[in-house]
Amino acid sequence: MTKVINFAHRGAAGHCPENTMIAFKRALELGATGIETDVQMTKDGHPVLIHDETLHRTAGSPEWVKDVTLAELSTKEAGSWFHEDYCGERIPTLEQLLELVEPRDTIINLELKNGVVQYPGLESKVIDMVRRFGLSERVIISSFNHYSLVECKRIAPEIRTGILYMEGLYEPWEYAKRIGADALHAFQYAVIPEFVAAASEQGIPYHPFTVNERAEMQALIRAGVGGIITDYPDRLAELLTAE
Ligand code: G3P
Ligand code: CA
Repeated sequence: MTKVINFAHRGAAGHCPENTMIAFKRALELGATGIETDVQMTKDGHPVLIHDETLHRTAGSPEWVKDVTLAELSTKEAGSWFHEDYCGERIPTLEQLLELVEPRDTIINLELKNGVVQYPGLESKVIDMVRRFGLSERVIISSFNHYSLVECKRIAPEIRTGILYMEGLYEPWEYAKRIGADALHAFQYAVIPEFVAAASEQGIPYHPFTVNERAEMQALIRAGVGGIITDYPDRLAELLTAE
């Protein structure tokens, strides 16, 4: 059986403030073999790791990421909203995450958050950095913006892409092949179990999100998914060890 990739969603977001360095480090300690994170871009063109388009929810500040410089962003505190123990955590840059994972064999799933805000040039910025770290083989770029995935494939045919979607697609591997994508990053309830083997036979694995319940993880493993994106990599690691 192929090894199921254990993707820690936004780092180990069930245990630590999402998309912080401590969340990424904790994920690796808990047995994650992959890390999923969200990429947005600052006013001065730096890819940074934050889920929302604004700093409001996680850094208690009203600005949009696109309107602040990296210097301004680095003064924001992004841990205490989760718990006071994490006060002082910052919003990481993509570069910081790649430095952390570079010496390991972790798979990195970079979700480009270019749906609400467009971020011209984000694809090239991210790809240049991934190539500079020599991580092309270990990165999967995903997005709900499938046009952006086509653009990524045009710039970097060697980097895998994953189609993010929320609802049932019919024979999604056909669509994946059409746009040159390599994986299906489906909302967990959009996974049609009888399609999983067919997609996998076409070389296109499912990597469903965000699966936190053990029984649901188990069912997806049995269906034959290639990876699971979870806030609790420890739960998934335990199940995969028992397999
Ligand atoms: O990449 C899977 C998942 O993270 C997509 O949804 O909102 O958690 O970024 P969201
Ligand atoms: Ca995400």
